[in-house]
Amino acid sequence: MKIAFFELEEWETDYLKKELGAEVEAVYSTDKLTEENVGDFKDVEAISIFIYSFITKEILDKLPNLKFIATMSTGFDHINLAECKKRGVEVANVPYYGENTVAEHAFALILAISRKLFESVERVKKEDFSLDGLRGFDLSGKTLGVIGTGHIGQHVIRMGKGFEMNIIASDPYPNEKAAKKLGFKYVSLEELLKASDVVTLHAPYCKETHHLVNKENIKLVKKGAVIINTARGGLIETEALVQALESGVLGGVGLDVLEEEVMIKEEKELLSKHYNKEEMKIALEDHILIHDPRAIVTPHNAFNSEEALKRILDTTVENIKAYSQNKELNLVKA
Ligand code: NAI
Repeated sequence: MKIAFFELEEWETDYLKKELGAEVEAVYSTDKLTEENVGDFKDVEAISIFIYSFITKEILDKLPNLKFIATMSTGFDHINLAECKKRGVEVANVPYYGENTVAEHAFALILAISRKLFESVERVKKEDFSLDGLRGFDLSGKTLGVIGTGHIGQHVIRMGKGFEMNIIASDPYPNEKAAKKLGFKYVSLEELLKASDVVTLHAPYCKETHHLVNKENIKLVKKGAVIINTARGGLIETEALVQALESGVLGGVGLDVLEEEVMIKEEKELLSKHYNKEEMKIALEDHILIHDPRAIVTPHNAFNSEEALKRILDTTVENIKAYSQNKELNLVKA
């Protein structure tokens, strides 16, 4: 099988070469696949891409031997699935790669706030060892409210249990089996906001979840509670956060995502040379929360661990091997 890889970083090429071995004949490119360069790949049977290679009807017309696309992403709306189906081209994606990774980042934010980590470190860097204003709070015995109990949410719940926290959760599709196994209780969003000392969001962003936490329901939050968002910025109305911090309702916020970045579809996009980082920087620089001392903001970095990125490649390799052995793995249905 002849396969062409696109949008790769150098380390990814090395990794893929090692993992794929001699089983497939592969070409590796850092470029996107476009109408301009597609002519150079007209004999390939398979391609592997990230989300900046748009697989349109026109591109497919120019790849007459194509049978298989392995996208190195969770999302697949850069691929015209209907046209692929018409031509019998199978598409495989990477459904999961970073559940524990994002959950660990959520806890990094929680602990940084609960132990006033940044203020403490900054003070010691100035050779000041006084403890004034550095008193934190225990997680043990506190209530953790998890909004969204999917893959990431369930990892967060397990970690919360490890810290001896009481866990409550909200999700329109409750997973009672997980609740029983992990030992948490489902409540309404309103009850969760009222009862939690730490609220953490792990729901997808869509029309229904836009401003799930907003100026109205943030009033329900316990005085001094902390809100963590590692999911998508648009889940929280930014103004609500700013006001709640100003009025002292919230004790702190930890954000890996901000509302301006809703245009980001896929985390790995942020590492791509094709992504306009300047636009992102300007959007972030404007953000009032970044400068609030009770807010900790990270640059949408929760997914970015060595292991998570390798898992994307590993799943892609598995998808390619499965295809070459006529097995169905992670196939996306049109
Ligand atoms: P998942 O699809 O496994 O779980 C999402 C859960 O949210 C589901 O149980 C779903 O029923 C629930 N949900 C849907 N609407 C809800 C609502 N209105 N209220 C409460 N729960 C609701 O997704 P997974 O893998 O756990 O990821 C969660 C989110 O994390 C993703 O949608 C993505 O936006 C974000 N993410 C962020 C990363 C980062 O680097 N910061 C990396 C990867 C994902």
